[in-house]
Amino acid sequence: MNAFHSPYPTWVEVDLSAIAHNTRLLRQTTNTAVMAVVKAEAYGHGMIAVARTALEHGATWLGVARLGEARQIRLAHIAAPTLVFGLLTPEEVDEAIANDISVTLHSFENAELLSQRAAALGRPVHAHLKVDTGMGRMGVLPEEARRLAEVACASGRILLEGLYSHLAEVDDDPHAALTEQQMQRFVQALRSLEEAGLRPPYVHLANSAAAYALPAARFDLVRAGSAIVGLRPFYYAAFPSAMRRSLSWHAQLADCKRLPAGWNVSYGQEYQASGEEWIGVVPVGYGDGLRRQPGNQVLIEGQRVAVVGRVCIDQCMVRLPRPLPPGTRVTLIGRQGDEAIYVEELVQRWHSSEAGVTAGITGRVPRCYRT
Ligand SMILES: Cc1ncc(COP(=O)(O)O)c(C=O)c1O
Repeated sequence: MNAFHSPYPTWVEVDLSAIAHNTRLLRQTTNTAVMAVVKAEAYGHGMIAVARTALEHGATWLGVARLGEARQIRLAHIAAPTLVFGLLTPEEVDEAIANDISVTLHSFENAELLSQRAAALGRPVHAHLKVDTGMGRMGVLPEEARRLAEVACASGRILLEGLYSHLAEVDDDPHAALTEQQMQRFVQALRSLEEAGLRPPYVHLANSAAAYALPAARFDLVRAGSAIVGLRPFYYAAFPSAMRRSLSWHAQLADCKRLPAGWNVSYGQEYQASGEEWIGVVPVGYGDGLRRQPGNQVLIEGQRVAVVGRVCIDQCMVRLPRPLPPGTRVTLIGRQGDEAIYVEELVQRWHSSEAGVTAGITGRVPRCYRT
């Protein structure tokens, strides 16, 4: 564990066998088709690697937030059905149509745009109608869903492929009144489409938390990000024992020196050595995604050590129990021996979310894949 040879000063390791396992687990447990949500680089795990692995192990759909992400998927020669959740500009609508990318139909103005662009290209656009059941984000109100579906279908150019909504509270509390209300509103919208003979083939509501904790929300497809990459899907319970974590984050100790008592460490004079101290320099900073928050710790030789002084953009300093050679492995997220720093701990310290922590590890940190 001491002198670790890596070609990088800092890197993220992603265990693709864990992602394969998590996808199979979700597919088997829910007995429902799976959309792997791989937006934001699959929450920092690497969009293409996660997409390929999830598709090989039971997912049949991909979900992303932006057209640019769907473009990368097609450029990687992944032909799986792919839904964009977010807004598309008119130019992007053309690109979606040309590349068989499904889009979100979220308003009457949007129906007009989709229909116009499909007419101009002479090809239909595949759309999933989004209902706002209580998230206050994109989508029409439940009572407007039927009319929007009728407008879309009457255009002859929008092929209604799906109906969906997103739950706001299910990650925090599976029994929240809002979740129950959102379910009812969603079913109301679904019934109205069914009455008009417009039920699309894919009705979907559940994210990871709902897929596991709320079977009634599964419908035809579950949309899962966290449960695929191995992040805790809900905040009210411990990490599920059947799931596997896939991500760890490491660095090599850049330097280690003995500083005299009173010597300043980092910007703003927030830390001075209280006696003679061994201070290590770690080549990870907030430019890599390590937040400048008090209380940061890392693992070295299986022990927790404190980050001291302010986190810099490219580096931070740690107080070592004894001198250690440059190249010593430093773990920011993951396990060393009996000690572990998991994403949950950073969620608390940084007042963030699980995906917020891992998606915040910036693109300059290389991702290394294990199979
Ligand atoms: C519309 C939509 N569906 C599904 C997901 C996946 O959520 P989770 O990572 O909790 O599975 C997200 C993520 O934010 C989302 O925006």
